Amino acid sequence: MACKRGALIVLEGVDKAGKTTQCQKLLQALQQSGRPVEMMRFPDRSTTIGQLISAYLQKKSDLEDHTVHLLFSANRWEMVPLMKKKLEQGITLVVDRYAFSGVAFTGAKPGFCLDWCMKPDVGLPKPDLVMFLQLSPVEAALRGQFGEERYETSSFQRAVQQKFEHLMKDPSINWQVIDASKSVDDVHKDITTHSLNTINTAHNLPLGELWK
Ligand code: TMP
Repeated sequence: MACKRGALIVLEGVDKAGKTTQCQKLLQALQQSGRPVEMMRFPDRSTTIGQLISAYLQKKSDLEDHTVHLLFSANRWEMVPLMKKKLEQGITLVVDRYAFSGVAFTGAKPGFCLDWCMKPDVGLPKPDLVMFLQLSPVEAALRGQFGEERYETSSFQRAVQQKFEHLMKDPSINWQVIDASKSVDDVHKDITTHSLNTINTAHNLPLGELWK
């Protein structure tokens, strides 16, 4: 019999919500429990496309807004064969940001509608679970200064949060809102519970296609 597939688990949220810390803790917890699991992150800055994106984020280059949006999407599509292979092999993927960040960040720029922003990512592997780490702008500010990269300002992050809130109304996605103002360990417990439930149910379900 073919092995049971892995689950595609995504963490999203505005900056300072603790996504990367929580992805790493989830990875470790699942590894320690003997489950096959790997972590990915988007943008994946290691590829040729990823390097263009990285230079843009570090403000070393400028790119037209539609162009960079399509590059972020292409950076996900170039990973799809690898993602599918791993999921089929029974490996669960814990992913730090995905198409939802793509839509929320570009959608927060003037002149973009969410519908246009979603189009390039239609048909990507559909996550079995998307956890949104919810943190108010006030609490995020208390966690310290933003970095130097593009988009790292309070006003832009507030606009991004609004776009995420719109995306979370979509019932075709298994959204779980996680209260990221709790302690690191309590947030980790919530995330682990949702992830274990998802891993068990995804085993028996075909991998879906995003926004189709
Ligand atoms: P990070 O590497 O620290 O997660 O930052 C990546 C930045 O790129 C972050 O500000 C969010 C933004 N972003 C987009 O604008 N579009 C995307 O598709 C993704 C994945 C991230």
